[in-house]
Order: sequence, then structure tokens, then C-alpha cells
Amino acid sequence: MASKISIAGEENFARIMTSPAQDGSAVAIEIRDLTRRFGAQIVLDHVSFACPHGKITTVVGPSGCGKTVLLKHLNFLLRPNCGAIIVDGEDVTQMGSSELNRVRDKFGMLFQAGALFDSMTVAENVAFPLVEKTNLSRQEIAQRVQEKLAAVGLEGAGNKFPSEISGGMQKRAALARALIREPEILLLDEPTTGLDPTRAGAIHHLIRRTQQRFGLSAVLVSHDVPQVFEISDRVAFLYKGRTRLFGTVQEILSANDPVFKSFLAGEEIDEEGLQAGSNALAM
Ligand SMILES: Nc1ncnc2c1ncn2[C@@H]1O[C@H](COP(=O)(O)OP(=O)(O)O)[C@@H](O)[C@H]1O
Ligand SMILES: [Mg+2]
Repeated sequence: MASKISIAGEENFARIMTSPAQDGSAVAIEIRDLTRRFGAQIVLDHVSFACPHGKITTVVGPSGCGKTVLLKHLNFLLRPNCGAIIVDGEDVTQMGSSELNRVRDKFGMLFQAGALFDSMTVAENVAFPLVEKTNLSRQEIAQRVQEKLAAVGLEGAGNKFPSEISGGMQKRAALARALIREPEILLLDEPTTGLDPTRAGAIHHLIRRTQQRFGLSAVLVSHDVPQVFEISDRVAFLYKGRTRLFGTVQEILSANDPVFKSFLAGEEIDEEGLQAGSNALAM
């Protein structure tokens, strides 16, 4: 059987697009030729891949390669110059604001750095999206907050302030807040930043348990390679604004891509090596 692995190159985008469908999974989010410039800088250059329903799709790549910019497009904070983002079959890039609000309700987001409000308790932080966006009673909100705090192992910590809890607990609180509106799709931008490898591993496994328990489709941006692959169903490797690799963990690890190998080893990726690698990989 032909490998589903995709090595980026115009001619291979079709293969990138079909990867999740080939194993029968429904697609939660399809990113098609997403292109975004800031002034003269092209940050995303025809990025294409699809995130299967009920799975974790992890986005990795060198610092500054556009991971956060990509996630902000999925969260409607940025609009693309061209390309499409298809959520449950609907192209959200063509939607007006009222339609967008309906789709936005499907999403929960954990921002890079967690960003808890220092002046609010953990419970108030977790409750915040419900207080802002719903008319639920205080009692209902309190109950949901307790549920979500329990789901992330923070029962009993609701009355503490962020400064009074550990970095790992702050990440858990940020995850509880991202879950509070019971999203179908969870976007996570570097949810383990600043944690040591042991604590990062614990957060990864909490994310996996949570994703499975609530049946979420998740898009996870992470710098924790290769640890994060333990909980990843698909991996997109972004490089120079392109989807250089996309596939299952096994597929991308066996792709034999020198650029990806350098990235995994934490090495500088030199341009000469890239040229040689690209030629070697042409399919
Ligand atoms: N609002 C913005 N205006 C101009 N440039 C931006 C903006 N947001 C991001 N960029 C640029 O886009 C590139 C990718 O950034 P980012 O997505 O944050 O990278 P990372 O992969 O580390 O998350 C960087 O060069 C950054 O400077
Ligand atoms: Mg980032």
C-alpha cells in the first residue's frame, strides 16, 4: 500500500489532504492552502492538512514558523489572505460575524503562556468564559466549575490565586477554563511552556485523558518533541511556512526527512542541508 506520508511540495498537497479520510476518520477541521502575510513576510504559505474528528493533531516546527499564527486562524482571531478553513464541512473563512459566533461556540482555547488573571481566584478564572458569554445562574456556574476543576485534578484549589499554585497547577487551571463551555474542538498553544519534562509529561497525559473522556478533536501546538508524540494521533511539521510533513507519528518518524531529523535533534537547520534533503525526498 502506498504510504500516506506527505512530504511538502505542491504536487503532494492532495496526499496531505486525504490522509485522515483514508483511514475512515471524519474530519473535524480541514486547513486548505491557508496563506497569511504580515507586510512582505509570508508566514503561512499554502498550509494544508486535516485534523481528524476525536483525535489529537499536533503541530510542531521551529520557533517563529507560524504555529501560533495558524492557531489564531483556527480561533478566528486572524483572517487568512487566502485559503479555506473548513469546520465540520463549513468554510468559516466565508462566514459573516453571526455565523462565525455559532461556529466559535464549538471551540475552546488554551493560549500560549496560559494567561490566567492574577487578580482572580482559580475558580473565578475557570468561570470567566461562562460569566462573560452565558446567562447561567451563579449556582450552575459554580457546579460546572467544580466539575471541570475535578476533571483536571484541581478539586480544592478553586479559592487559591494563580500566584499561590505551582506552574503545573496553573496549566491545569487554564485547561479547565478552556473546557468550561464544553467545546467540541480544543485548541492548545504550547500548554506545557515553562514546565520541567516530568510535569510537562503529566500535563500531556491529562490532555490525552481529557480529550478522550470528552471525545474532543484537539489541535495541539507543542515544542515538546519528541515527548508530545506519545499523545499525538497526527503530526503536522511546519517549516518555512509550509506543511513539510503530515501523517501519523509512525509515518513522520519513518519519513527519513533530514530537516525533520535536525529539528528533532534541536539542531540549526541549514539551508544547504535543506536543498539536498528536498531533492533526496522528491517523490
Ligand atoms: N500580528 C503580527 N504582526 C506581524 N507579524 C507577526 C504577527 N504575529 C506573528 N507575526 C510573525 O509571524 C511569524 C510566526 O510567528 P508565530 O506564529 O508566533 O511563531 P511560532 O511558530 O513560534 O508560534 C513570526 O515571524 C512573527 O514575528
Ligand atoms: Mg507560538
